[in-house]
Amino acid sequence: MSKSISGFSKLSKSKKIDWIVNTYFSKKEDTKTIIKQYWNSNEKLQQLHDEFIENTITNYYLPLGVAPNFLINNQLYTIPMAIEESSVVAAASKAAKFWLDRGGFKANVISTKKIGQVHFTYNGNFDLLKAYFNYIKPQLIFNAKPITKNMEKRGGGILDIKLIDKTSSIANYYQLHATFETLDAMGANFINSCLESFADTFKTQAKYFDDVKDSNIDIIMSILSNYVPECLVRAEVSCKVEELNEDDNIFPQDFADKFIQAVQIAEIEPYRAVTHNKGIMNGIDAVVLATGNDFRAVEAGVHAYASRNGSYSSLTHACVDNGVFKFWIEIPLALGTVGGLTGLHPLVKLSLEMLNKPSAKELMMIVAVAGLAQNFAALKSLTTTGIQQGHMKMHLMNILNQFNASDYEKNILIEHFKTNVVTHSAVVEAIENLRR
Ligand code: MEV
Repeated sequence: MSKSISGFSKLSKSKKIDWIVNTYFSKKEDTKTIIKQYWNSNEKLQQLHDEFIENTITNYYLPLGVAPNFLINNQLYTIPMAIEESSVVAAASKAAKFWLDRGGFKANVISTKKIGQVHFTYNGNFDLLKAYFNYIKPQLIFNAKPITKNMEKRGGGILDIKLIDKTSSIANYYQLHATFETLDAMGANFINSCLESFADTFKTQAKYFDDVKDSNIDIIMSILSNYVPECLVRAEVSCKVEELNEDDNIFPQDFADKFIQAVQIAEIEPYRAVTHNKGIMNGIDAVVLATGNDFRAVEAGVHAYASRNGSYSSLTHACVDNGVFKFWIEIPLALGTVGGLTGLHPLVKLSLEMLNKPSAKELMMIVAVAGLAQNFAALKSLTTTGIQQGHMKMHLMNILNQFNASDYEKNILIEHFKTNVVTHSAVVEAIENLRR
């Protein structure tokens, strides 16, 4: 039986490890060795990582790969991607190369508005609340000045605050619905601080207003929304249908037709749309993570957007228009290139420098392109060779590592599987044959 522990967070790192090891593991020394193997030898760097979160015991590595040859709005990028799934970087690189020869990707930011809400209850007359809100609104903005003044100097800040009546859904429930421009910052802390300031002013000032003071304005919570349908970016590729001619086994027109049908299926069939969009998120999350952004926030917002019309649907779309094949994505992405981890984590700094130190808008375009490229590569495989050919080729190394293959064995087996179909059992059989 596991034991509970109080005061764990106050223990030293080594005492925490002792407790974990003694509580959960039989091979205590081996476990400690694994934990310590992943510590960075540079103590300052390790301390930086220790201090990102509470109760750090070690580091959890993900590979940081790069996908070169991304031509975006006529500028070449090598895109950093942090991801464990074996085929993702290879697929992104292939898609980048394909479109490099066909004019590259075009991207544009449609809007950059972010949203936060103060949720509260009030049990009085709505017209009186509205009058109070209209009166107090300038003071809500004024009292938040200590938080907003730097952002305002750079051209951002609070865009608007609206009072929303939600009493048709929950009795006495209202919102202050605020919109923000946070420029190159993702802005979560900025927005949450502004909201808490609005809530404080809204509640405390109410006691001086006879019309609302007895109607119990009660703040439930103040928090940004990760649903950002007005922080939107679009990326697209296009070429003449006859230029879709990379593969000799399929005519370009047939490829375009099948590809468009695959997208249409994801537009109308949620079971397929989820997997289709998961493939897009393979590209998006990998860049979001490499650049120190919050992939959970992005995931939540993107999937909500994919359901905005009442049914979960594809994030990408495709058509042929006057003999031109077009494939595009439109997604909400609240990203930052300043603040948060961006100035702290050495690999995040490196990734951003690799991308020419992008603004948040530029990063939105790069990330959207990574998602589109990933989806293009997946659909191209799915509608031609099938996905497993490429996947299993990339997965081969994982299977070889599971069997502790030596470099010598790896070389022979990689060569062997250039002309043989990779399946788990075929690889196991080949290793066994080699070792006989
Ligand atoms: C696998 O990680 C992603 C795919 O399943 C995406 C798709 O089916 O479009 C290949």
